[in-house]
Amino acid sequence: MHIVDLQNQYYKIKDKIDAAVADVINSGAYINGKAVNDFCDNLSCYLRSSYVVPCGNGTDALMLALMALELKPGDEVITSPFSFAASAEAISFLGLKPVFADINPHTFNIDAEAVEELITPKTAAIMPVHLFGLPSDMEKLVKLAKKRSIYLIEDVAQALGAKCKIGNKIQFAGTIGDIGCTSFFPSKNLGCFGDGGACITENPDIAETIKIIASHGSSKKYLHSRIGVNSRLDTLQAAVLNVKLPYLDDYIEKRRRQANIYNNILKGCDYVVTPYQPDNLYHTYNQYTIKVDVSKRDMLKDHLASKGIPSRIYYPLSLNRQPAYKNFIDKRSFNMPVAEEMCKRVLSLPVDTEKSDEVIEFIANEVVNFFN
Ligand SMILES: Cc1ncc(COP(=O)(O)O)c(C=O)c1O
Repeated sequence: MHIVDLQNQYYKIKDKIDAAVADVINSGAYINGKAVNDFCDNLSCYLRSSYVVPCGNGTDALMLALMALELKPGDEVITSPFSFAASAEAISFLGLKPVFADINPHTFNIDAEAVEELITPKTAAIMPVHLFGLPSDMEKLVKLAKKRSIYLIEDVAQALGAKCKIGNKIQFAGTIGDIGCTSFFPSKNLGCFGDGGACITENPDIAETIKIIASHGSSKKYLHSRIGVNSRLDTLQAAVLNVKLPYLDDYIEKRRRQANIYNNILKGCDYVVTPYQPDNLYHTYNQYTIKVDVSKRDMLKDHLASKGIPSRIYYPLSLNRQPAYKNFIDKRSFNMPVAEEMCKRVLSLPVDTEKSDEVIEFIANEVVNFFN
């Protein structure tokens, strides 16, 4: 069993994908072809957001966002220690300082109260990561960012299509802060057939700046108004994404259905804590991550493997403990007790648009069997 079955997802829409890819190949417009513009329009329409600026991958999207906001070297960006490295990497790479705020043990996302305590005159931005498909507590983070006049950059790489209820309004994660940054890595909620990413914003000036930076700092051919990078969404990837975007809601529904099956079977097992689902947040379950006792986690993983069931540890080492960031953080970030405990307790079980209910039931029952 594969943890995600991307081949079968492709086979179901093969004719449409093959035709879209063939169109690009026949057009010869491999860089910034029509499909790229179409995709930006399609995604902004889906997200009900004003601007989608495409780029090469989700990590670039984070870097472009930080570059566009003109942060100064040494400015502090508060982010999560319990995530993929891209957020801390983008911050550190640009000479900014990552400051980690410990996470909420239920949501796995940064805790707004912990963030508030870390704000100093040097804090320029908060970068919440909507981990495993669940949005962070945006209601509190928006209020905080506004109150302290700092930017809010959402890492929505794992949660495209997730929603938050803020007041009476329901908004897509990634469209709430100043900039949302996403990835189209194949296993994401909306994945392409390689690398891809985008920034999302309501601000026309920010959108234009990101576009210029992503294009070698150039707004006009061979006129470089600023130092930029080369970060483009390939036309071929955009063509794939145009075909897949109309299926995104179905894909998310499938993930939520599988999460429900897991929840129903695992709720009878006292040794497993199932993912937290706050009422005001729409979880997209890019991962279905359970918590178990520290002493049992690796044995459970081995047990599942012996039954042919793959599982993953996202993440085995929190970012505050990663050697790469040792020289970039200060003592506020040295110890992250909740994140560090989660690294020892979490296990992500397969969620995948192509797995049948029976397969998910089989996996859930094997988790229960391990503890019986
Ligand atoms: C939370 C998060 N942010 C950013 C990224 C980076 O995306 P990419 O691999 O497209 O650079 C990832 C990718 O796995 C991610 O999970």
